[in-house]
Amino acid sequence: MRFDIITCQPDLLESPFSHSIVKRAQQKNLVEIHLHDLRKFAINKYGQIDDYAFGGGAGMVMMIEPIDKCISALKAERNYDAVIYMTPDGQTLNQQLVNQFSLLNNVIILCGHYKGVDERVRQQFVTHEISIGDYVLSGGELGAAVLADAIIRIIPGVLNDESSALTDSFQDGLLAPPVYTRPADYKGLKVPDILLSGDQPKIEEWRFEQAIQRTKQRRPDLLGE
Ligand code: ADE
Repeated sequence: MRFDIITCQPDLLESPFSHSIVKRAQQKNLVEIHLHDLRKFAINKYGQIDDYAFGGGAGMVMMIEPIDKCISALKAERNYDAVIYMTPDGQTLNQQLVNQFSLLNNVIILCGHYKGVDERVRQQFVTHEISIGDYVLSGGELGAAVLADAIIRIIPGVLNDESSALTDSFQDGLLAPPVYTRPADYKGLKVPDILLSGDQPKIEEWRFEQAIQRTKQRRPDLLGE
């Protein structure tokens, strides 16, 4: 899967994609991530990519021309399955959406800043508008990193078997059950006996019950309650 991320702050995105699972996914050639500095498509030599809002009001608006130029240059090279705009007024991201995005091949992610982008960008180029939650970030970059990370970790081959994404919270509509590791007894704090029993069917049953209980307590909305 290929990600082309359009941003006016590429530095912000270098680090999230240079570690751990996401880094390994790139090394295994399962994922390509390309950062594009929007300022390279600025309308003048001062690097201008934003301007005052027509009609007045506080905050700058990202201009259509630099974004058009950047997206058009990318589209001249290959076809894209989605142009995703990161914005607090988009559809709230969830695992189901992440799963759908993970089936795509080439994706552009556009990071907003300031007051957002000229509405015509959304009308002309954007196919999906995604929010990572009901709060406002200073830009779409952290949202783009969250989205890309969530997608990349479920691409087949990215995680090894022991950390299979199929047992993640939300994948079966439930929160994940509690997990424990050694020691079995830490200062009197004991691991539930069932997990030490070696009885795998019983352990799976226990985990399922725990997942349901945890979901009921913390996220009854996931169970439609
Ligand atoms: N940009 C600013 N706030 C955002 C949010 N909550 N989700 C995605 N992009 C954003």
